[in-house]
Amino acid sequence: MGVPEKRRETNLDMYSDAYAERTSGMVASAVRSLFSVANRPEVVSLAGGMPNIADLPLDSISDSVAALIREHGPKVMQYGAAQGEPRIREQICDVMALEGITGDPDDVVVSCGSQQMLDLVTRTFIDPGDVILAEAPSYVGALGTFRAYQAQVIHVAMDEHGLEPEALRHAVLTCRAQGKSVKFVYTIPNFNNPTGLTQTLERRREILAVAEEVDLLIVEDNPYGLLGIDIDPLPAIRSLDSERVIYLGSFSKTFAPGFRVGWALAPGPVKDKLILGQEAATLCPPVFSQFAISTYLETWDWQGQIVKFRQMYRERRDAMLRGLDDHMPVAATWTKPQGGFFVWMTLPEGFDSQQLLARAVTHRVAYVPGDAFYIDGLGTRNMRLSYCFPTPEQIYEGTRRLGEVLKEEAELRQTFGFVDSLDNKSTSTPALDSPSTGITGPSLESLSPTSPVAPSETGATASSHRTDH
Ligand SMILES: Cc1ncc(COP(=O)(O)O)c(C=O)c1O
Repeated sequence: MGVPEKRRETNLDMYSDAYAERTSGMVASAVRSLFSVANRPEVVSLAGGMPNIADLPLDSISDSVAALIREHGPKVMQYGAAQGEPRIREQICDVMALEGITGDPDDVVVSCGSQQMLDLVTRTFIDPGDVILAEAPSYVGALGTFRAYQAQVIHVAMDEHGLEPEALRHAVLTCRAQGKSVKFVYTIPNFNNPTGLTQTLERRREILAVAEEVDLLIVEDNPYGLLGIDIDPLPAIRSLDSERVIYLGSFSKTFAPGFRVGWALAPGPVKDKLILGQEAATLCPPVFSQFAISTYLETWDWQGQIVKFRQMYRERRDAMLRGLDDHMPVAATWTKPQGGFFVWMTLPEGFDSQQLLARAVTHRVAYVPGDAFYIDGLGTRNMRLSYCFPTPEQIYEGTRRLGEVLKEEAELRQTFGFVDSLDNKSTSTPALDSPSTGITGPSLESLSPTSPVAPSETGATASSHRTDH
């Protein structure tokens, strides 16, 4: 391919005409581009979602990893099966049993983190222009993958109990009436990233009932399900139906993300496609990592370790909620997660979390602006606040700094004649932006029987009968 001289001379990308069309949808994640500033030592980062693994038994892990190489090196450092190693697939079924799933190891496909499984599932189902319904807001990494495969992502509203079944039904029917091909709905039922909200068991059943009624596949992404703070694991949607759900799991949050091991439990024919996809993508998922995790699960009290993680995240979650209660000077609302890593804040009308970020960084605090979690520019009044990584003291201090930023902004706005009230934690601000439909004709919003509700208006938790991340 000839590269024009003129472009060689300038600093422009000389390959810009050569890239595949799909790359135009591939943009740097807002979270990643924040890393350089958020990681400065003086900044309290409430931005990243890195699991806090400082308390892992590193000495024991390093001994068992060394023994693994010494005693089984030729096997564990070799290529392996595209589907994943048999032993870990059995252990994965034991892990999933904690959420009520009866899975067959033969239906498990191991991947390089659940992120890669999102990629494999998307490439298996999506032709350019196909519709993926994604709860709004949604995990930024999933949206990036969906974009990369040129899916049309259409958001579906959530309320304080998660994805709204009626909105889902209307989205499917409206899309189909317009001749669109809806391939699946993407949902994070436990401690959603970014809202922290959790679907009640009743809500899971309702979503499944709608999926059955309209014949829709569900992709259930569940990296946080075992990390409840106030509640024990709820039955996974997959535990209620084995044919309509592709379940994604991960060891990133319950053990360590660096091994990069996740998985799917999928209906048989889908599983076969995922294995072919895995073969094409990587030949096989990382064999050494799978053996290292198998050994950890066999030799360590991993469930006891998860109890410790839950306690550690409880202290951090509580520090954040206390800090927000103490320091938020403006009318803002936020979710009160029962587990997981994230709080979702909604600022008063007129505030823009993207614009405020630069000032926040000068105040030495960082967060992720809410629009990163929507495909269509919504979420400008929202921010995702993570409590997983900093110490409780840092988190509390971070909320104090954030409070200063918002107070300054409110004062500025008052100076220029806007009427925001200070010292008033309003309960009237919706925490979840109404999704735009991406559909022409009657809007889903107008078809939806309920509008999004601020979690803090209703007790702010995903479920009224339990207490957790
Ligand atoms: C909802 C969700 N899904 C998937 C992932 C990907 O996790 P991993 O690839 O480490 O398993 C993440 C990571 O933060 C996540 O929050």
